[in-house]
Amino acid sequence: MSKTKIAVLVSGGGTNLQALIDAARDGIIAHGELALVISNNAGAFALTRAANAGIKTAVISKKELGSAEAFEEKLLETLAANGIEMIVLAGFMVILSKRFTDAYPNRILNVHPSLIPSFCGEGFYGLHVHEAALAYGVKVTGATVHFVNEIPDGGRIIMQKAVEIEEGDTPEVLQRRVMEQAEWKILPLSVELVAKEIKEEKKN
Ligand code: GAR
Repeated sequence: MSKTKIAVLVSGGGTNLQALIDAARDGIIAHGELALVISNNAGAFALTRAANAGIKTAVISKKELGSAEAFEEKLLETLAANGIEMIVLAGFMVILSKRFTDAYPNRILNVHPSLIPSFCGEGFYGLHVHEAALAYGVKVTGATVHFVNEIPDGGRIIMQKAVEIEEGDTPEVLQRRVMEQAEWKILPLSVELVAKEIKEEKKN
């Protein structure tokens, strides 16, 4: 039977996308196919990573389309046209509406660079998350992969991994450690888990 067709949505550097590409190559993601990468930002390096791996890419710009509604409409259209069954938000810096998330219940995954419910929700993205963790003075942080619903970072948790904060950490140093020790590990494992579940559902 064919693999679960996955779209990865990105906005920036795409190191999590790279972890998915490597995991697919290494057979860690065995039940899913990285079929499409979509960016809201034409300058995202993630697009180069996708092209280098031979994955089809698309750019959908909110600015050009003029509204969040038109942006989501175009996203849905592109996903449907490519037969996408599962969506991974990998550093995608756009909050999706209920209308969008309801179209793919338990089919959208997101990776967030903290242990949810700490340092999450609107305004907590990228480096800001690590700045907040250091400012609070927590000793342990980490990453979470969760399903996406209409509440920012509010969907059911799939996997989490803890990461120690070290003396003298800067947000940048901590961000890198959380990626290396947590995000790049639990994102591919979660993608395989859900891709496999979707494939098994199709069989029944
Ligand atoms: C990652 O740390 C990801 O967890 C975070 O942005 C970074 C993207 O890096 N996402 C969020 O903060 C979403 N709320 P990448 O483009 O190198 O994968």
